[in-house]
Amino acid sequence: MGKGGLENRTGYFSAVLHALESDYSVTGQERVNFYQEQMKQYPLYPVLFERISSEIDKVIEREGGRGGLVDIIEYGPGTGDLAVMIAKKDGVGTYTVVEPDPSFLELCERKASEHHLSNMKFVCKKAEEYISDREVEAVLHTFAFHHFDNKEEALKMIYNNLRKGGLHVIGDVFIPDYDFNKDYQPSDIGKFAESVLGCAAEHILAMPSPEEKNVADQIKTAIMDLFRYEEFKVSKEIAGKMLEDAGFKGIEFELLKGKNQRVNYKRMGWYLSISHK
Ligand SMILES: C[S@@+](CC[C@H](N)C(=O)[O-])C[C@H]1O[C@@H](n2cnc3c(N)ncnc32)[C@H](O)[C@@H]1O
Repeated sequence: MGKGGLENRTGYFSAVLHALESDYSVTGQERVNFYQEQMKQYPLYPVLFERISSEIDKVIEREGGRGGLVDIIEYGPGTGDLAVMIAKKDGVGTYTVVEPDPSFLELCERKASEHHLSNMKFVCKKAEEYISDREVEAVLHTFAFHHFDNKEEALKMIYNNLRKGGLHVIGDVFIPDYDFNKDYQPSDIGKFAESVLGCAAEHILAMPSPEEKNVADQIKTAIMDLFRYEEFKVSKEIAGKMLEDAGFKGIEFELLKGKNQRVNYKRMGWYLSISHK
């Protein structure tokens, strides 16, 4: 393409192209830095973390009554903010983070050391491959489920690492329902596209102070979702079925909402899911 073509565009368009390209070129540290910045554009994070914290408090209270400490595994902790918040609670025994990205794992280790959290353990592995040396009272993951390459295998391993009766908490974005076939692939591509693009649009609307790069990242994510490439988001109906097939009981999904009147939180799809072994 000559002058006036794609390479001369500026603004959102070039930001999207750059974001798509950069997926293959950024170093781990750059990705970590950008991710920390991007988190500030998602106002439901504090709501989600508070909800998870209160679910863990209930487990601590129950176990404390039996004189025990609560061992926890978190999968895909990313920047480690939730990990630090939970690991420092009285009543928490070990807090193991299972993170396949060495740059994120390093950041978690740094934060644990800054907060003097000697109960935190660090494992550089995927959820699909991690076998714990003990069954724990609670397992958590936020925005990691949609990254699991093999969700069924990951859920099987998570289930095995959990004690009977133990708590499984998922915080993730589930795209609005669409028809799918037995392999969980969309059978109505139009409805699927509407789901994915609508979800991205609500995320952009909810951003408190978006810059081009923040919007571009959301659009990039939507494109990857559409092609089911790297990001593999599912609806909560599919996630519920996968949880059931893995053996989890009492599966619940709670839609998280904020106060922005312009945002359709259902279409945005931030959920807390609670289930038990
Ligand atoms: C979108 S980030 C979420 C980070 C953090 N939990 C949060 O809520 O901000 C996804 C995280 O999942 C991790 N991840 C990707 N695939 C994974 C897998 N198969 N098992 C465990 N973690 C995985 C990534 O390295 C990354 O840390």
